[in-house]
Amino acid sequence: MKPIPYGRQNITEEDIKAVVETLKSDFLTQGPKIAEFENAFASYVGSNYAVAVANGTAALHLCTLALGVSAGDKVITTPITFAASANCVRYCDGEVVFADIDSETYLIDLNRVRQILREDTERKIKGIIPVDFAGRPVDMEVCRNLADEFGIWIIEDACHAPGGFLRNSQGKKVVCGNGIYSDLAIFSFHPVKHIAAGEGGMITTNNKKLYDKLILLRTHGITKSPDLLHENHGGWYYEMQELGFNYRLTDFQAALGTSQLKRADEGLIRRRQIAARYFSAFKNVPFIRRQSGVVEGHAYHLYIIEVDNRKELYEHLKQKGIFAQVHYIPLHMMPYYRGLGWKKGDLPSAERYYDVCLSLPMYPTLSDKEQDYVIDTILKFQ
Ligand SMILES: Cc1ncc(COP(=O)(O)O)c(C=O)c1O
Repeated sequence: MKPIPYGRQNITEEDIKAVVETLKSDFLTQGPKIAEFENAFASYVGSNYAVAVANGTAALHLCTLALGVSAGDKVITTPITFAASANCVRYCDGEVVFADIDSETYLIDLNRVRQILREDTERKIKGIIPVDFAGRPVDMEVCRNLADEFGIWIIEDACHAPGGFLRNSQGKKVVCGNGIYSDLAIFSFHPVKHIAAGEGGMITTNNKKLYDKLILLRTHGITKSPDLLHENHGGWYYEMQELGFNYRLTDFQAALGTSQLKRADEGLIRRRQIAARYFSAFKNVPFIRRQSGVVEGHAYHLYIIEVDNRKELYEHLKQKGIFAQVHYIPLHMMPYYRGLGWKKGDLPSAERYYDVCLSLPMYPTLSDKEQDYVIDTILKFQ
């Protein structure tokens, strides 16, 4: 059997055709395929606006810039996420406040968040970046209530959860990134994610003011829009009105993204089938202490199991050609964040989770036969 990674992209002939057609067109960098991708993505998640950018990290950075994070501001996020969820605060000289996770869901513990906000008597905390980690949606309704109570903004990091959803207190489906509760939401199109564009990212929002700002910041803070110009010297004229970046996505990446998006629902169905098969295979296995399980609305970017002897199982699988992964090493334990004062022992639930977690192969083209081999190899361990 060929090596089995924990995640991988699925590129079809249709995807290749879409990219080649764009390469033959007049546009390589930002052209008509960007708006097409943005419109298709906004309608997929149900937001009013979408802004395509170079990658998920750029998306996060533009969000913290647009929200005006600056020195002295504090922003809460989870330690169990990819570095970019926290780093975007540092890019703007803000301070990261890690809140511990809920050991059941692996998501940021909103009770802990409430406590942190209550203790912030100086009101330095300006926002929160909840992460729909592994594809499991954070309860954004509860998060919004907290945000409103304490006057802070929300950037939902939904990189793991395109197509994921939660039911709110009225039983209404709230799709990740639809902007009903969050101010901004971001996605990544890195190859291990649901939608692959090589690199790529998207910001979704229902806030027109923030949308306009993001559009400006994506291209150096430069505008040619006649109604926004302070002066106008002629057809060539443009103005740099803010300090922005080149965070544009290329047209051929957008074409790939749009083509991939057409199969997003199909991929999600398959991911949920794979999750259900893992769940039933492991539910009565004593050495598997906990697993992602079957959760309505979960987008299953990752399927996680908890085992005491994780390192041995990881090595055992590797020897058999199965490349499981660990998501994530808690961010507060990284040398960079330790250098800012964080230390081991600060976030016990995240640290305990890190000691035992393992992400199993999870991607739509994983066949039943391959998954059975993964399950079998795990069951034969010990
Ligand atoms: C939760 C999370 N946030 C942000 C990012 C950053 O996305 P990108 O790799 O596209 O910059 C990633 C992806 O790796 C991620 O998993």
